[in-house]
Amino acid sequence: MQKTASPKTYRVKSFGCQMNVYDGERMAEMLAEKGITEAPEGEDADLVVLNTCHIREKAAEKVYSDIGRLTKGKTQKKAPMIAVAGCVAQAEGEEIMARAPAVSMVVGPQAYHRLPGMIDDAVAGKRSTDTDMPADAKFAALPKRRKSAPSAFLTIQEGCDKFCTYCVVPYTRGAEISRPYSALVDEAKKLVEAGAKEITLLGQNVSAWTGEDDRGRKLGMAGLIRELAKDPDLKRIRYTTSHPADMDDELIDTHGEVGKLMPYLHLPVQSGNDRVLKAMNRSHTAESYLHLLERFRAARPDLALSGDFIVGFPGETDAEFEDTLKVVDQVRYAQAYSFKYSPRPGTPAATMENQIEPQVMDERLQRLQAALRRDQQAFNEASIGKTCEVLVERRGKLDGQWLGKSPWLQSVHFTGDADIGDLIEVKLIQAGQNSLAGEIVA
Ligand code: 5AD
Ligand code: SF4
Repeated sequence: MQKTASPKTYRVKSFGCQMNVYDGERMAEMLAEKGITEAPEGEDADLVVLNTCHIREKAAEKVYSDIGRLTKGKTQKKAPMIAVAGCVAQAEGEEIMARAPAVSMVVGPQAYHRLPGMIDDAVAGKRSTDTDMPADAKFAALPKRRKSAPSAFLTIQEGCDKFCTYCVVPYTRGAEISRPYSALVDEAKKLVEAGAKEITLLGQNVSAWTGEDDRGRKLGMAGLIRELAKDPDLKRIRYTTSHPADMDDELIDTHGEVGKLMPYLHLPVQSGNDRVLKAMNRSHTAESYLHLLERFRAARPDLALSGDFIVGFPGETDAEFEDTLKVVDQVRYAQAYSFKYSPRPGTPAATMENQIEPQVMDERLQRLQAALRRDQQAFNEASIGKTCEVLVERRGKLDGQWLGKSPWLQSVHFTGDADIGDLIEVKLIQAGQNSLAGEIVA
């Protein structure tokens, strides 16, 4: 590779989950510390970071087509220096280097603190790959926060030891690690000082977080939430994503006792059929999942529930799929994510027999999504007439209009006297499937 000029501007494109959004923001901060500034919207960037996701579908192909578009002048006039980051980089880094000469560096999700050095290498004409796994180093190397949106992410845990048979995460993000308590308390404080009113604790298995407080006492995520809630300037706490196996009594109690912990729980079930759940290596049954939700609802009766579903797992019969619809009917989710099963190379399910035909998956997904849409609409309609606080996140399209989130994570729009970061008392007056209209309570 030839020597090249140091990049002056960057663009980070993040795909996939919120953990990637968090990582993308941190990479952007590192680049800013290095004196590289974000390219204005619509203008060429000297350096483009593709922060990729590997969870479903043709992830790698998408990366190659993005690279092609960048080098062939389709995305921007001049071809940039290209870095491939994220989970595709982790899973297929060497292949990317071999197949795509336009890529200057490949950096896995646990190694992005090395990005600044890799850019220096690229400027000197050297391509580099780093897909080392331990995540602690990257957190230790985090730059300082300058400003924060009203709603901020904080990664507290990474990786997964659950090994659901369809899932690539244990291979791309590695084993579970918990970031130290003191580092998290410190980062949360900085986020709040930088303007955050709400913090969402992130992790692939967020409620598996463990740590020790200053006096050496062992803590779970509930303990961390209780500590963070003591900051008077932090108004809201959320967390995502949890596995049913890691939800303990203390966390359930915390939902009832800590008002700042928002009444919302994202708890993936994946399937409503016990044979499928076993084949997925999920450690819960449909009944144990439903029972768990009942306990959460008993602690916090207005809890909004969200979930993840996979249709068409290898061998799933029509009757087994119907069991998933039954769980949906019982839970009445406020919102949910649903996917067609996608074989991930290297996972046990990818080589299972009886892979399901695409048309069957399509049909099941449509039926499931119709049920989920029905429940989401019903949940939103049931909110009409309620008064709640809305955290204002940005301006709306109309003059004087604001967009924000209700405690139940619904998008709410209203007009009137407000500003970004305000918590405004709003009465919900109209419901659509994806958002609600409100009016400020005088
Ligand atoms: N195919 C389809 N969906 C998947 N998910 C994870 N792996 C796969 C896969 N191979 C879904 C699960 C998970 C969410 C983040 O993505 O529902 O909870
Ligand atoms: Fe993947 Fe299962 Fe771990 Fe979630 S719990 S990240 S679905 S292996």
